[in-house]
Amino acid sequence: MEIIIRNATPADADGILALYKATAEVPGGLARTSEEITPAYIGNNLNNALSTGICLVAETPDSQLVAEIHSYKLAPAAFKHVLGELTIAVHPDFQGRGLGKRIFKALLEEVTINRPEIKRVELICRESNTRAIGLYTSLGFRQEGRLEGRIESVTGGVEADIFMGWHRS
Ligand SMILES: CC(C)(COP(=O)(O)OP(=O)(O)OC[C@H]1O[C@@H](n2cnc3c(N)ncnc32)[C@H](O)[C@@H]1OP(=O)(O)O)[C@@H](O)C(=O)NCCC(=O)NCCS
Repeated sequence: MEIIIRNATPADADGILALYKATAEVPGGLARTSEEITPAYIGNNLNNALSTGICLVAETPDSQLVAEIHSYKLAPAAFKHVLGELTIAVHPDFQGRGLGKRIFKALLEEVTINRPEIKRVELICRESNTRAIGLYTSLGFRQEGRLEGRIESVTGGVEADIFMGWHRS
């Protein structure tokens, strides 16, 4: 099956909503539960990414959105060289097949080639999400901070969130 990666448009909101809800059904990945993935949350991310950042989607031949990545600028002008608030989601049925790596590489390529003003991309990931941390490390992200006890753990209690950054070389 050929899955294409393309820029998102406002018309993708419903497809991204369905993708995020399915992804959030599996605990330990996205910080939000499926119930917390609302049209307002998706719409806000999409609007922000389309106006100041980047939003890419991966689409199957039958038009299902099976992966999404977005990141956008923080409001203060002092951070205008930074893309933050990054989230990536690959549909559970499509994980572990290289799609996460493909769509994240596409975002970094877009930054490198077409967005020279962006010097830094940042994200936060729970420490137990070793697949995600492995992916980000393989793409050149470095662990820059450890936010102790920040996020509830799937197994009970709390765990650290890891702050990671990528810098234009
Ligand atoms: C995390 C996520 C984006 C990764 O996407 P994916 O398509 O499943 O991952 P890929 O198949 O592209 O693998 C990318 C890298 O992840 C790592 N990886 C893959 N499977 C792994 C596993 N089972 N354990 C540890 N690392 C793994 C490897 O570094 C791999 O790179 P490699 O192929 O060069 O070895 C995806 O699983 C996902 O959406 N998970 C749920 C939501 C989530 O956790 N989002 C991130 C929140 S911070």
